Amino acid sequence: MANEKTPVETLSEEAAAAELAFLAAELARHDELYHGKDQPEITDADYDRLKRRNEAIEARFPALVRDDSPSRRVGAAPLATFAPITHARPMLSLDNTFSDEDVRDFVASVYRFLGQMPDDSIAFTAEPKIDGLSMSLRYENGRLVTAATRGDGTTGENVTANILTIGEIPNRLPAGAPVVAEVRGEVYMAKSDFLALNERMAAEGRQTYVNPRNTAAGSLRQLDAAVTASRKLRFFAYAWGEMSEMPADTQSGMIETLKSWGFPVNPMTKRLTKVDDIIGHYREIGLARPDLDYDIDGVVYKVDRLDLQQRLGFRSRSPRWATAHKFPAEQAFTTVEKIDIQVGRTGALTPVARLTPVTVGGVVVTNATLHNADYIEGIGNSGERIREDGHDIRIGDTVIVQRAGDVIPQVLDVVMEKRPADAVPYEFPKTCPVCGSHAVREKNEKTGRLDSVTRCTGGFVCRAQAVEHLKHFVSRNAFDIEGLGAKQIDFFFEAEDEALRIRTAPDIFTLRRRQEASELTKLENIDGFGKVSVGKLFNAIDERRRIALHRFIYALGIRHVGETNAKLLARGYGTYEAFEKAMKEAESLSGEAWTDLNNIEGIGEVVARAIVEFFKEPRNVEVVSRLLEEVTPEAAEMPAASDSPVAGKTVVFTGSLEKMTRDEAKAMAERLGAKVAGSVSKKTDLVVAGPGAGSKLDKAREFGVEVIDEDQWFERIGPQ
Ligand code: IVH
Repeated sequence: MANEKTPVETLSEEAAAAELAFLAAELARHDELYHGKDQPEITDADYDRLKRRNEAIEARFPALVRDDSPSRRVGAAPLATFAPITHARPMLSLDNTFSDEDVRDFVASVYRFLGQMPDDSIAFTAEPKIDGLSMSLRYENGRLVTAATRGDGTTGENVTANILTIGEIPNRLPAGAPVVAEVRGEVYMAKSDFLALNERMAAEGRQTYVNPRNTAAGSLRQLDAAVTASRKLRFFAYAWGEMSEMPADTQSGMIETLKSWGFPVNPMTKRLTKVDDIIGHYREIGLARPDLDYDIDGVVYKVDRLDLQQRLGFRSRSPRWATAHKFPAEQAFTTVEKIDIQVGRTGALTPVARLTPVTVGGVVVTNATLHNADYIEGIGNSGERIREDGHDIRIGDTVIVQRAGDVIPQVLDVVMEKRPADAVPYEFPKTCPVCGSHAVREKNEKTGRLDSVTRCTGGFVCRAQAVEHLKHFVSRNAFDIEGLGAKQIDFFFEAEDEALRIRTAPDIFTLRRRQEASELTKLENIDGFGKVSVGKLFNAIDERRRIALHRFIYALGIRHVGETNAKLLARGYGTYEAFEKAMKEAESLSGEAWTDLNNIEGIGEVVARAIVEFFKEPRNVEVVSRLLEEVTPEAAEMPAASDSPVAGKTVVFTGSLEKMTRDEAKAMAERLGAKVAGSVSKKTDLVVAGPGAGSKLDKAREFGVEVIDEDQWFERIGPQ
């Protein structure tokens, strides 16, 4: 150990380095004792003395300052975990477009939605899409108070201490900025800083990082802000959340404002009105891409006028007023070593190509999805030939793989010249490789064609389906139980002892009781667990005994019911009891409950059928009822604008509307908390009828539903 008594002035470089290492470890230990365990071993004065000594040595030997230096530590406590922060306005994502034609469609859809806008009268901004992590920075009275990651869009993680280490992000806003201002943008790592970091890591014989984005993400999620500080992160501002006052009325004006507040904004942002110019700017940014010091994966277009953005509003997860025009994915050649079959939650058999490892766009790729049997054969979803000449994919083939963003790599094409002479067509299995049940392709009733998916018919008998079902149940957007991930599910599923075994979702919630009652296998004695982690796990499970209704519905794993549909159902029925009752009433696929289900905007017939099917299966109902003995789904929050005169009402628009397009009418009503239905039933509260309204109007009269015209609608909802 270094001798603390040696005066700093006489320390050799070697001794200084050793002492800095010692001090880093020692101060970290005292931090943990003080903040983490509440059991300090030294007085505050002694702690300060160590810290000052560290600083003095660093001042004399700046080259020796360590990545984990205590002087780089910002804020006091290394956090135990990140606290959740609910965003004042949700953080949404963007729809993707891939071709010039898609962009033209996007622009056309904006004009169509707004109606009656002269050609080339709507301006758009076009700016690079930064490949980093989105961040929401909340300023109150000019001071940065919280910084939150996007998380699931509704709730993110509080990473304020780490964000404070980013020099490019102002801690204060200039006088005159709104009292509440949420600035949003992308945190990223420059390519040059990434390369330098990796050189350092390699020189120290440590594992290097994969790409700037993942490294930036890892750096931000450090519990110790000192580590974040040692990795240079940067920021571009491009959006905002809550603003107590709007400083501008266009997107481009807002960007100018953010710039004047001291935020870096991207210099390649342009305001354009003609589609051809927009596409031209995309090409220019694409050409500049290799020379930029940061990764970008496309160009984002946004309607410039904020009042038009407001009118356009949002679809479920993304705004109608913006889109991301992605750059083509990167590609590489490799060979298919074998083809494995994975069995998913719904029994779908998905073939996966195991590839000779190859680097694509900086990431090593070893697997690529082959989607389904048709895809391997060279047949697309609508029966068309895919890949050049519809070549099939065989084991031993040389293929072109591509990777776009976080998407699973795809096999793009087969290099026929390199096909081995003995390669034979792949034979898709006729039985499930996990449970041996028949695997079938159902006939699609609408098209008369075979469904592209081959499914295991084993249902609950199939271990793969049961395990995947559980993994879905505990996943991030479902029950999200900390400490119970895919790995643990595999372990609990296979457990020999019944006091440990988890086979269905309710078993998760009886685990603690079964453990307490059992003399045999105690979880805490099993490798990888331990008393503390077991306690934490049980607490994490208990924390989920109350859960938002939409998460509960999503967790059930009903086919076609993803997060968006789960939210629609939660909103539509309010409580789980009402939902289940209605689904059982809808069993005959007719009658009022069935009509109501189909009337939920966004729920189509295929989805509706799948939900009803789910509740027809007694096993499902039985598992859910056991689950409900352990867990309480909370009633869904009703839409935000609950004080609007149409909140909670079911509205039908019919006939031709003259002041707004049908889409706009629907979006407006939903924003005001109304449910928009496609047909009139006894449950309809209001029909807005334009000229030419026909059978729906007759039905409204028959049921005695209130009917108003477009002007009366605007009167009723008041100024927007
Ligand atoms: S606008 C409501 N602009 O892309 C839309 N997003 O796919 C708000 N991103 O989560 C986003 N560069 O992390 C916007 N110039 C840019 C962007 C950008 C990168 C990211 C952002 C967002 C994701 C959406």
